[in-house]
This record gives sequence, structure tokens and C-alpha cells, in this order.
Amino acid sequence: MPFYQRLGDVPRKRHIQFRENGTLLVEEVMGLEGFTGNESILYHLQSPCRVMKLDGFEKIERKEWVPDQHAHRHFKTADVKPDGDEITGRRLLMWNNDVEISLCRPSGTMDYFFRNGEGDEVVFVHEGSGTLETIFGDVPYKDGDYIVIPRGTTYRFLPEGPQRYLVFETPGLIEIPRRYRNQYGQIMEGAPYYHRDIHPPSELKTIREKGEFPVKVRVRDGYQTYVLDYHPFDVVGWDGYLFPWTFSIHDFEPITGRIHQPPPSHQTFAGQNFVICSFCPRKLDFDPLAVPIPYHHSNLQSEEMIYYVSGNFGSRKGVEVGSITLHPSGLPHGPQPGLAEKSIGVQETHELAVMCDTFNPLKLTRFSKDLDDGKYAYSWYENSLDGAAVDGDATGAGLTSHL
Ligand SMILES: [Fe+2]
Repeated sequence: MPFYQRLGDVPRKRHIQFRENGTLLVEEVMGLEGFTGNESILYHLQSPCRVMKLDGFEKIERKEWVPDQHAHRHFKTADVKPDGDEITGRRLLMWNNDVEISLCRPSGTMDYFFRNGEGDEVVFVHEGSGTLETIFGDVPYKDGDYIVIPRGTTYRFLPEGPQRYLVFETPGLIEIPRRYRNQYGQIMEGAPYYHRDIHPPSELKTIREKGEFPVKVRVRDGYQTYVLDYHPFDVVGWDGYLFPWTFSIHDFEPITGRIHQPPPSHQTFAGQNFVICSFCPRKLDFDPLAVPIPYHHSNLQSEEMIYYVSGNFGSRKGVEVGSITLHPSGLPHGPQPGLAEKSIGVQETHELAVMCDTFNPLKLTRFSKDLDDGKYAYSWYENSLDGAAVDGDATGAGLTSHL
């Protein structure tokens, strides 16, 4: 998506004969918005349509939890048991018509290929490393990476070590925010990252293998498995603007100011009626009268979920690595009692967190119900015995500065 890429061999012109040992190769145009959006053109040894068998269709079942009360919530995911693989192990936490947010701790790995035929994906790698093998080539990943996978990309995870992901799936597009790009698409000075921080597929391996290759495709709110008679990674070359890529949260250059910078300064990706933001270690506000943690705010038209990646969140009791806070629309939230005063003079924060703000309400699942601590809503109450009243020195490390 961000810029032109080319791997392997492609012919001199589009849509002309391209042969290998006399055999005509199969050209596939993979494009968005009909034939007017970004596209890539791939050259296969065999037709990608060679379905030898249609397996069953599995409908996606979402088990909704409708809470009795509308309230701020805190979900603890650290102890979620590994289950499934990198696809079947995605356990839905919350969703609406624009985005699905899942936690994934796979216990096994995929013995099939996967393609999302109805949405883009962002996989935030909290723990683990490995290679995302794709039809566009290998995409190495490590902890802290966002793996951006456009719809239509056939892939398979090759993990190294235990894995923990936060997964976003959307029927819309995942884009670099428009205000970061000039009219030609180049990321501008002042944006919190640059093209050098974006890592496209590093190596194209053309696999020449006949056999039976199951490809599970997400379509029509379910999964249809097709068995192909030739390895799907039979591409000898491709070029274009559509491909999977990674961006490390550690390469996000935080924007700080003399006084408080609002959450849009942390924006990393734009989605369909939602944004994904990165909160990274940074210097805090430096005006002598600055209050380094934010004002209370009422997110009147958005829901705000924050996933805590690393850092010391000690001054917000109970929030730990793997915690998710959800501040739904219609309610104010802000620093817990005493924290604004204690933050004065704090110069930096070391926390790392991923935030997703949606414009439309999020539904919850029974899985999230099991992770709900049930008491976060009371954590602003001064007399709360078990809430989050601040009882220690506010250090930069524990500031939860974006709340
Ligand atoms: Fe907030």
C-alpha cells in the first residue's frame, strides 16, 4: 500500500506474454476499488483457481455478552491459555461493523494456508517472532511489529517461540493517515514514521510443488476451505502497491509538546470508522505549569480500548501487561484521584500501549466477560478499597499518561 514494490521477475509491460521454458505464465491482477485503487500484478506458474475440492463452510459464531450495566471496564488477558493456531486461536474480545478485535495465543501452528477475502488485518505482535509466509514473499516479524495484511493475501505463519497477538480485522482498508502523506503519497516530514520504517516482503520463494493444499478463505462471514492441486506460493514475480508489510511500534517517533498533545498525535493507522494509535516512551510536557497527564474527557462519539504492552503501570492499580481498558462512549474518564497532582514535574513515561478508538459502539463477547475485573468502573471513587486510588509516587514509568 505505501509505495511501489517489485520482487522476482516481471515482464517488460503489463498484459503481454511472459513465459518460463516456453510455458505461458498466469497473470493475476489483485486490485482494490475495481480497477482504480491500489493493485499488484502477480505471475503464477499455475492458475490460482485450480480448486480440486471444496471443503465445508464454517459460519463465524460470535457469542455476545450484553452487560447488565454500561460502565468502564478492565479486562485482564495475561493469563489467557494458548489455544488453536494463528487463525483458529483468534478469540474475539469486542467488535462492531467496522472492526473485530481479538486476542490470539496459539498453541499450535497452521497446517493450511489462510486468506482474508473480506477484510484487511493488522496483527500486533506482543510476544514472539517468526515469518509470515505469503504469496508476495516472506515477511519476517518480531515482537513490537504491526503486521499489515491486505485482503486477498494468501499466507501462513511460521512462528518461532510462544506467540501473543492483538488482532484487528476490518471490512474497510487499513491506511497510513492521510495527513501524514503528501498529494503523491510520500510520507511527509513531521509524520511519526517514514518509508524506511515500513518493511515489505523481503524474499520471494517460488515453490514448484503439486499436491493437495488447503486454503481457508474468510468470505461471507465464515470460512470456506478450498483444496488446490498446486502450491499457492507459485509466484515468480510481482509488482505494485498492494502487499503485506510490517511497522514496529518501537519505530514510532512520539510527538511531544510544551503542553499536552491530544491522542491523534499518537495515530498510527486509519481504518473504517476507527483508528489505531501507539503510545510509546517519550518525554512529557515541559511547560513549568504543565500538567503532564491529560484532562478528563468525554469521548462522546467514540469507544476507546487500550491494550497495555509493557512498562510499569503501577500507579493505576490492577492494570498490568496484557490488560485492556475500555472506555465506552457517553461517559467521562480521566486520571484517577490524586494522579494529576502527583504527575506535576514528571518528565518522561516508559509505557507502551496500543489503542483502538472506534466511532461506533463496540459489542462485547462472553470471552471478554470472563476477563472482566468487575471493579474498574469504581476506580475513580475516592473511598474505593479495591479500586485504583493512587497511593504511591507517580513516576514516569507508571503514568498511564494517555488516560
Ligand atoms: Fe481517553
